[in-house]
Amino acid sequence: MKDLFEKIYKDKGPLGKWASHAEGYFVFPKLEGEISNRMKFQGKDVITWSINDYLGLANHPQVRKADADAAKQYGSAYPMGARMMSGHTDLHEKLQSELAAFVNKEGAYLLNFGYQGILSTIDALVSKNDIIVYDVDAHACIIDGVRLHMGKRFTYKHNDVVSLEKNLERATKMAQQTGGGILVISEGVFGMRGEQGRLKEIVELKKKYKFRFLVDDAHGFGTLGKTGAGAGEEQGVQDGIDVYFATFAKSMASTGAFIAADQEIIDYLKYNLRSQMFAKSLQMQLVVGALKRLEMLKTMPELKEKLWENVNALQSGLKKRGFDIGTTQSCVTPVYLKGSIPEAMSLVKDLRENYGIFCSIVVYPVIPKGLILLRLIPTATHTLEDVTETLNAFDAIRDRLNNGTYKRLSAAVMASMEDK
Ligand SMILES: Cc1ncc(COP(=O)(O)O)c(C=O)c1O
Repeated sequence: MKDLFEKIYKDKGPLGKWASHAEGYFVFPKLEGEISNRMKFQGKDVITWSINDYLGLANHPQVRKADADAAKQYGSAYPMGARMMSGHTDLHEKLQSELAAFVNKEGAYLLNFGYQGILSTIDALVSKNDIIVYDVDAHACIIDGVRLHMGKRFTYKHNDVVSLEKNLERATKMAQQTGGGILVISEGVFGMRGEQGRLKEIVELKKKYKFRFLVDDAHGFGTLGKTGAGAGEEQGVQDGIDVYFATFAKSMASTGAFIAADQEIIDYLKYNLRSQMFAKSLQMQLVVGALKRLEMLKTMPELKEKLWENVNALQSGLKKRGFDIGTTQSCVTPVYLKGSIPEAMSLVKDLRENYGIFCSIVVYPVIPKGLILLRLIPTATHTLEDVTETLNAFDAIRDRLNNGTYKRLSAAVMASMEDK
């Protein structure tokens, strides 16, 4: 009989197999210093374009003070136990009602983490006779939530409403046989390429098909819509979203998440959401911190304005200089270049070492072979000088990519990685 660990000793997994080349640099890099537009990477100053601190709250003095005061008052243990047993407080309820009001829903419920929370929400919403129809490019937390489902599921082509409709027809027929209902899931903003989910068209389909709609608005919350209530507000269809989800990990610059819906649905989830029923309550420090952040989201529109000033400067600057930034409709700014994985590695090394630009890099298999995706996340802490410096650096690296510099350097990069 095989040892369970045998496969692990042989194969570290699709990403893990690159560990010896990439760890500490391309993956698991250590950014140091206070969270802001400029931090340190391996002792060098870099402009950071890889942190989802959209509104610049992470290191805002008011937020730092609120977090520190809450830590002093409550420590990091209080309250102990799950919400249902002993971990419930007035402040948890207050945060829930404020979040619900902000996103225009009757009720909300707190989640300890976005990933586990949405997974558990999907699990609680469907039973085995129900059918899930979801975007093929959905975030891992949605895919893993769907994996828990014992019944049928269909994917539709990414952001393709025709494909969604085809699958809704299939799902409707199937639901008539099983006696179940249909749950459609999209993201409000797709975090890799920045397109908004086609929420308006999806909600429109409710006139023809009977389904409930769950939206993961991790990147839309705080950044889109007149008040910052997200992609549903931006597209004028918040009412058509039956269950709205957002995490605190991005605009709110913290940990935790929430779902918002009609009160009756929230009341059901409160008693059926396994990730919350069987896990310790969100600690008070995070609850108090989230209340402060939400107040700032509501009362400081200048943060979102500054964010968008930077987004517009970066995206229009890149376009003007002829870069392909795909079809983004959000702050997420992808830059597509052509090249191999070793070229991508030496290009990123050049960006970091010689131009002081730190951004995330995505390559095959996440995107098609031969493409390099550099992903930039503007925040309210960036300055227009940061944008200009970055645009100039991008011009330079594109020239070097086109004249074959990275092809030549990539062999050396691989060798130096191996030496580490
Ligand atoms: C689209 C999306 N959904 C959910 C999550 C998970 O949220 P959390 O970090 O709170 O677990 C993320 C990542 O943060 C995300 O990008």
